[in-house]
Amino acid sequence: MPGELMVRAGGKEYPILVGSGSYKEALPEILRRLGPDKVAVVSHPPLREMHGKDLEEALRDELPRHGRVIWFTFPEGEENKTLGTVTEGYRFLLRESLTREDMILAFGGGVVGDLAGFLAATYMRGVRYLQLPTTLMSMVDSSIGGKTGVDLPEGKNIVGCFYHPEAVIADVSVLRTLPEREVLSGLAEVAKYGFLYDTEILRGMEGWPEGRPPEGYDFAPLVRRCAAHKARVVGEDEMDLKGIRAFLNYGHTFGHALEAAAGYRMLRHGEAVALGMIMASRMAEWSGRARVPLVERHLRVLLPLLRDIPRPLEVSARDILGFMEADKKRGRSLRFVLLREWQSPELVESPPPDLVWETVERTLKDLHAAR
Ligand SMILES: NC(=O)c1ccc[n+]([C@@H]2O[C@H](COP(=O)([O-])OP(=O)(O)OC[C@H]3O[C@@H](n4cnc5c(N)ncnc54)[C@H](O)[C@@H]3O)[C@@H](O)[C@H]2O)c1
Repeated sequence: MPGELMVRAGGKEYPILVGSGSYKEALPEILRRLGPDKVAVVSHPPLREMHGKDLEEALRDELPRHGRVIWFTFPEGEENKTLGTVTEGYRFLLRESLTREDMILAFGGGVVGDLAGFLAATYMRGVRYLQLPTTLMSMVDSSIGGKTGVDLPEGKNIVGCFYHPEAVIADVSVLRTLPEREVLSGLAEVAKYGFLYDTEILRGMEGWPEGRPPEGYDFAPLVRRCAAHKARVVGEDEMDLKGIRAFLNYGHTFGHALEAAAGYRMLRHGEAVALGMIMASRMAEWSGRARVPLVERHLRVLLPLLRDIPRPLEVSARDILGFMEADKKRGRSLRFVLLREWQSPELVESPPPDLVWETVERTLKDLHAAR
């Protein structure tokens, strides 16, 4: 289709189709092209409840008469992004006789997308799949770029592979059922693109009353803009080896440790990343690396997105640093993305431990004081 966004990576090329109602438009054509007999939708039970009928209607018309839509649903939450759930998925697909000519469709947020992608990559040595992200976070980030995987008790995303979908269909009309806290969490990833690459995004967010999108806001242009950044970065550094895709981890070194310290329940992924970006902006300023003031604007854009986090936030600097240390012991170096200026990121390896400690401790203290 002319003018559509494309991801070009790993010798593959696939579209990102963004719009309202885009899946009803796009699915028939994609199914005609790929010609599966069965489509296995991977999702969560509440999502099937809310959107299943519409989705099945869009799929059924293009399947052959003997074709079927089958659902593999698993409970919500990061704690279910595991090899155990994947194994249940393999067995389900086998029982339903899904073949390599058939197709998987990931219908959910990043948890579903990561797990479904891994299932698709490894079932029968790989079946084709589509990403139909249903959270703002997954539309702008996780559904694009082929990173798939699951967690181990030792840490997030330890097992996985790069495996790209046939297409990403970001239909913003499904966001109507997304709880507001999840919308705010997704906006943290949007802000990340602003800080890293795109001042227009930041200006737009700063113009919202109370820092949040107004009623009836059309997310499609914003999603398209962010998805274009992600597609470009993935095209330049698909396997995350050149230090280009690594910038997308802005706020994530602190964020991942925060999520782990909070037991993956207390904080949404985007909330942890928002706090992580605030910490990163402070670290950049306090270490003298930043050539412009960063913190104030980070707070202006990100604090409104943290409206719904539990207060007081029951995590300690000691726990957060403990998770970072454990990561280091596993051979992952302590690497931070810091801004020198707006839209000018750099990678910083193993900064002084005192600086990391002070950044985490003071930010948590300020957060407690601000409740
Ligand atoms: N692969 C990547 O490149 C990448 C990048 C960033 C994050 N991730 C992963 O993404 C995950 C986080 O994803 P997330 O923030 O989308 O969370 P999520 O997938 O847990 O979804 C959040 C919640 O929203 C619900 N939900 C989803 N869509 C809905 C809708 N339209 N209406 C109502 N409820 C809806 C879900 O059922 C879930 O309870 C993490 O596992 C993270 O590691 C992966």
